[in-house]
Amino acid sequence: MIAFQEEKDSTQQKQLDHRYDGIVKVTGKAKYAAEFDVKNPAYAYIVQSTVPSGALLAIDQTAAGHASGVLAVITPFNAPELPKPKSQPPARRHITVLQEKDIWYNGQPIAVVVANSLDEARYAASLLEVTYSLTPPKLDFHGRHAEARPPKQQGREPAATTRGDVAAGLSKAATKIDVVYTTPVQNHNTMEPHATVAEWTGNKLNVYDATQYIVGDRMSIARTLGIPVDDVRVQCPYTGGGFGSKGSTWSHVVLCAMAARVVGRPVKLAIDRNQMFGPVGTRPTTHQSIKLGAAPDGHLLAVGHDVIEHTSVMEDFLEPSAFQTRYLYSADSCNTSHKLVEMNLGVPTFQRAPGEATGTAALECAMDELAFALKLDPLQLRLANYAEKDVEKDKPWTSKHLREAYAQASERFGWSKRNGTPGQMREGNKLIGHGMATAIYGANRSAAQAVVRILPNGRGFVGSATQDLGTGMYTIMAQTAADALGLDPKLIDVKLGDSTLPKAPVAGGSQSAASVCPAIPPAALQALLKLSELAVNDAQSPLHGLPTAELEAKGGRLVSKKDPSKGETFAAILARNGNQPVEGMGDAEPSQDHESFTAQSWGAVFAEVAVDVSTHMVEVRRIVATYDIGTLMNKKTGANQLVGGIVWGVSTALHEESHIDPVHGRTANENLGEYHVPVNADIGIIDVTCLDIPDTKFNPLGARGIGEIGITGAAAAVGNAIFNATGKRIRDFPITPDKIMQAKPLIA
Ligand code: MOS
Repeated sequence: MIAFQEEKDSTQQKQLDHRYDGIVKVTGKAKYAAEFDVKNPAYAYIVQSTVPSGALLAIDQTAAGHASGVLAVITPFNAPELPKPKSQPPARRHITVLQEKDIWYNGQPIAVVVANSLDEARYAASLLEVTYSLTPPKLDFHGRHAEARPPKQQGREPAATTRGDVAAGLSKAATKIDVVYTTPVQNHNTMEPHATVAEWTGNKLNVYDATQYIVGDRMSIARTLGIPVDDVRVQCPYTGGGFGSKGSTWSHVVLCAMAARVVGRPVKLAIDRNQMFGPVGTRPTTHQSIKLGAAPDGHLLAVGHDVIEHTSVMEDFLEPSAFQTRYLYSADSCNTSHKLVEMNLGVPTFQRAPGEATGTAALECAMDELAFALKLDPLQLRLANYAEKDVEKDKPWTSKHLREAYAQASERFGWSKRNGTPGQMREGNKLIGHGMATAIYGANRSAAQAVVRILPNGRGFVGSATQDLGTGMYTIMAQTAADALGLDPKLIDVKLGDSTLPKAPVAGGSQSAASVCPAIPPAALQALLKLSELAVNDAQSPLHGLPTAELEAKGGRLVSKKDPSKGETFAAILARNGNQPVEGMGDAEPSQDHESFTAQSWGAVFAEVAVDVSTHMVEVRRIVATYDIGTLMNKKTGANQLVGGIVWGVSTALHEESHIDPVHGRTANENLGEYHVPVNADIGIIDVTCLDIPDTKFNPLGARGIGEIGITGAAAAVGNAIFNATGKRIRDFPITPDKIMQAKPLIA
């Protein structure tokens, strides 16, 4: 059951009660990449390496080549040669497109079979005889921490930081915590697996692709194939979840285009569910060492957060698990670091709240350990270290109302009734526990463009090459355009997911609302100005001769501000003036002074669990959370994302883990039967509220983005509730019944 506050309208905007794209989705009319009709399609199937390390010696394709319906078998021994990546070693080589014979991981694409049907392609793929030379793989993570090294390339933030003297702070501290938390590899498993359809017309390539980044996908495809970017069009009107995995262009996208060129027909390539594990990114495993030192009143004197995580031998990817530790609390001193251990696995990538998801799981459990050691309430410990500014960069926040979030969520949860001594709340065979944690995620924003048109039928149109991953972009674009045009949101046509539209950034980092929506009002204003000029220059218009500055749009009419009875409908103006749409283009980017602030979203998460004393099964009965995410643009789609994030947090706490075979390097549970995620029966009440306080220093709409913060803090709140129930502190996620059974309570 999901509860959501019914409160005031947050913005000036009229909110749509229902998802803009809800009806086309539930009626099956929304087309996803693999469903697009192309003429006479062929079907491609990816063949994957069955060894983790070495090289291809030969691929015998005789039998596969003779199999029914087979059109082509493309391997590194016969694949069209693509341009070599410019830098050496290539800056980003997360994809393999049959140009080399090296094997870097088990599951790596090593061939593509193209046939008249998917079944024929898949069957022929099983007939390939592959010979490898083998080299010893690097598959042990925890035994190779000595090999950990800093990332090769500097990211947006440094991988390691030092503020103050942590050693001195720890030696002064009355109470210290020195613990290690670990999190496993996780795979994205979007409801819609990756899929691509590629069709060539001469030199022009049209691609339907399941992507979070139309504009970037187009550039990556063009660059990898060595063709002009203008020759590529990418379309993706609907994306069935992305969570970061569809933010990059993986091997199969390029291989699909390559296959279409080889067979001279459009090609469809849909990734199998088991192929979601490895060749399209994972969340890396992390080993997080946390040291906390505090004065008796809870004041943090020192914080250390040192992360070792895995990356691929192919390329570095950094999950910045310690970033939030730099500024979440106002500690006197703070050291953080990230180091990588290379493994023969596919390249890890962004996964919902990359960094904060795993980082808060560790840090916020460690804070709970500190609170327990200090005999302080965990919420009081957070308040004692409340960061009034970004201490790391010595900058003010654009806006921070975390205190109110703690207050509202703890009140709704009934935190004051909690018993801080573990094992004291019992109902029959169940131990009840209450835990809390802070949620935090950065507020990101990039340059974006939008086009707005006023149509002869009186409707409005808004378009941008952004994406809707199920997040609500259609809905909030409709609302924003409606607001700017003075129309009802139901009278707006929205188009996105087409690279021919004005540019928008990757739908990642929770940035789409804050990036794309601010480009819409200036575009609408320009369109309205053009319409106003038509009206004031038209002798038949009641607005004839008025200065355009005196006009405004209201309810589908252009009217005089001074005398609103004077005016006419958009449609009437256009009907007499060529009956063509008028169009405006809008651009928006972060304001000039954005460097002088730090923008973060905040939240407070409270969880209640019941742990069965015989089976050690954990039931998450209730999660109550309040978020400070700036303006809540739409209640339904916003709540939906926060709730989804929390469910993933529960999954991280209790269920989710990719088991990597230590000898062969393949994910042993690459299916949704054995890769556990919560089902409805695993999820109790999730009660989410938003403070809905606009952050206009961040952008004119006051919205900071909402996609990722829900997962942060949620796993820790559950882990802390399990401790409160059982007195057992499990520091290795997920917290499965076997671990609870084996753990010794920290208290008698
Ligand atoms: Mo999100 S992991 O930035 O798609």
